[in-house]
Amino acid sequence: MPGAQDLRPVYLVTGCAGFIGSHLSERLVRDGNLVVGVDCLTDHYPRRMKEENLKWLRGQGNFTFLEEDLTSCRLGSVPARELVIFHLAARPGVRDSWGGTFEDYVRDNILATQRLLEWAKDRKVEKFVYVSSSSVYGDAGELPSKEDGNPKPISPYGVTKLAAESLCYAYWRNFGIPVVVLRYFTVYGPRQRPDMAFYRFIRAILEDEEVEVYGDGTQTRDFTYVGDVVEATVRATELPDGEIFNVGSGSRISIKRAIEILEGLMGRKARVRYSDAMKGDIGDTYADISKIRRFLDYNPKGLEEGLAEEIEWLRGSG
Ligand code: NAD
Ligand code: UGA
Repeated sequence: MPGAQDLRPVYLVTGCAGFIGSHLSERLVRDGNLVVGVDCLTDHYPRRMKEENLKWLRGQGNFTFLEEDLTSCRLGSVPARELVIFHLAARPGVRDSWGGTFEDYVRDNILATQRLLEWAKDRKVEKFVYVSSSSVYGDAGELPSKEDGNPKPISPYGVTKLAAESLCYAYWRNFGIPVVVLRYFTVYGPRQRPDMAFYRFIRAILEDEEVEVYGDGTQTRDFTYVGDVVEATVRATELPDGEIFNVGSGSRISIKRAIEILEGLMGRKARVRYSDAMKGDIGDTYADISKIRRFLDYNPKGLEEGLAEEIEWLRGSG
C-alpha cells in the first residue's frame, strides 16, 4: 500500500482478477499509477485462471491486491485520498443467468454496486466509472443502438446490469458521485472468459472438437477488442458525469462469418454443430459509437488482428 506522504490519486479497479479488469489494471500500473485491485475470485470459472491473470500484477510495487468481496466492502485499507474508481466486478454471462443462479447476479451486480457506491459517497472521488453491458438494450430498439434509447433487457443478467446503471445514476444525482457508465459490447482477446464464444470456438478448433453454435449462426455481434475497451476505459475520466457511452467496435458480424475468419487464421476447418438458440441471447448487437467519439479519439481495431492475439494466447495456455 502506498505511504501516507504519497499524494497521487489511487486507481481502484474492482474485478481486477477477471478478463477485462486484469488488462485494465496492467495498463494503469504500466502508466505509473498507484493501483489497488479488488476481487474475491468467485468460482464461476476456474480460480487458477484468475490467479494467472494476476501473476504479473502481483510483482509490481505500485499494485496492491485486496481479496475482498464487495458486498462486505471491507475497503478500510484503501488510502483516504483522491480516488478514481473503475467498477468491473460482476457476475457476467447472459445465458447462465436464469433460474437459481440469479441470486448470484443480484448479489454481485446489484448489491455489490450499491455497497461500493455507499462506500464511495463519503470519499473524495474524481471519477466513478461503472462498466455496463450491451445486454441492457435487449432486442427491441433500432440498430445501431444509441445510448439515449429505452433499454429493454431480455435476460436476467441484462436486468441486473441496467439496475446497477440506475443505482449509479441515483448516487450521482443525490450525492454527486461523478459517475460515467460505459456499455461494453462482447469483448474478446487474450484471457477471454471460458464461457464466451471465441474462447470456446478456438479451443474446439485447436482440439479438433465440435464447435457448438447456438441457433443458426446468423445472429450478429459487435465484437470489441479488449485493448480498445481498456483504452476507452482509462480515458473515461475525461467524459462528462452522469452520461452513458457505448464502447463497441461500431461494426457487426455474424457468428457464421466469425467462424470462417477463425478457420482462415488457424488454417483449419471447424466441425460445426448447430444446437438450440439460448434463452436471453440477443439476436443482434451493434454499437453506435458516435457519442464516445465526440469526446475521445477512439479508433477500434479490426477483428482479425485481435482474434490472432486470442488464438496465440490459447495456443500457449495449454
Ligand atoms: P470476469 O468474470 O472475468 O471478471 C469479473 C471479476 O469480478 C471476477 O474476477 C470476479 O471474481 C469478480 N467479482 C465478482 N463478484 C465480485 C464481488 N462481489 N466482489 C469482488 N469481486 C467480484 O468478467 P469480464 O468479462 O472481465 O467482465 C468485466 C465486466 O465487464 C463485468 O462488469 C461485465 O458485466 C462487463 N462486460 C463484459 C463483457 C464481455 O464481453 N466480457 C461485455 C459487456 C460488459
Ligand atoms: C458477452 C458477455 O459474455 C457478457 O458478459 C456481456 O455482458 C455481453 O457480451 C455484452 O456485450 O454485453 P455474448 O454476446 O453472449 O455476451 O458473448 P459470447 O459468449 O461471446 O457469445 C456471442 C454469440 O455466440 C452469442 O450469440 C452466443 O449465443 C454464441 N455462442 C456462444 C455460440 O453459438 N456458441 C458458444 O459456445 C458460445
